[in-house]
Amino acid sequence: MSQIELRPYNTKDENDAQEIVDIAKEYYQKSPWPPTKEKVMAGGVHYFRAFYQNKQIGITGYYLKTPTLAETVKTTVFKEFQGQKLGSILSQAIEDECKRIGIKKIISTVYYFNHVMVQIKLKQGYTIEGYHPDHEAPGYHEYSLGKILK
Ligand SMILES: CC(C)(COP(=O)(O)OP(=O)(O)OC[C@H]1O[C@@H](n2cnc3c(N)ncnc32)[C@H](O)[C@@H]1OP(=O)(O)O)[C@@H](O)C(=O)NCCC(=O)NCCS
Repeated sequence: MSQIELRPYNTKDENDAQEIVDIAKEYYQKSPWPPTKEKVMAGGVHYFRAFYQNKQIGITGYYLKTPTLAETVKTTVFKEFQGQKLGSILSQAIEDECKRIGIKKIISTVYYFNHVMVQIKLKQGYTIEGYHPDHEAPGYHEYSLGKILK
């Protein structure tokens, strides 16, 4: 049982959507395509606030690519909580949530320079299924990592 509690955002709510956009702006400054409020509110991605010992320590999310395949997104630990293994615990928490709803395979795309997240996923049993040069935009190479859930 994960020590992290995931509480769903209401992405139809403007304030919730804006909070997600603000966090993404702060923590994904290198992303060429940060989410907009309109995009978040359009739905499709299930976002969660992540709580540890009753404090919000970050966010995470997933969207369904098929009824049994989910891609996790925006797994983020706020700066003041980084380096304490919470990233690993949070990655496991979103995996557990996907498993709970019947997902059979989970994937994640990670920038090639994000060694911390690649390390977290490999340690949790993901394998590198692809390397995508110039993927999101020219210069934005990504790995795709996947794990079959048993
Ligand atoms: C990625 C992120 C969630 C990690 O959170 P965190 O709480 O600091 O991570 P952890 O403390 O769980 O550390 C994870 C592992 O990375 C390792 N690590 C730390 N720096 C590293 C580096 N430069 N290279 C490789 N591994 C590194 C740690 O030693 C730890 O490994 P271990 O469990 O084998 O000891 C956090 O840095 C973050 O929110 N970054 C911004 C958003 C982001 O990039 N999210 C991922 C999107 S795909």
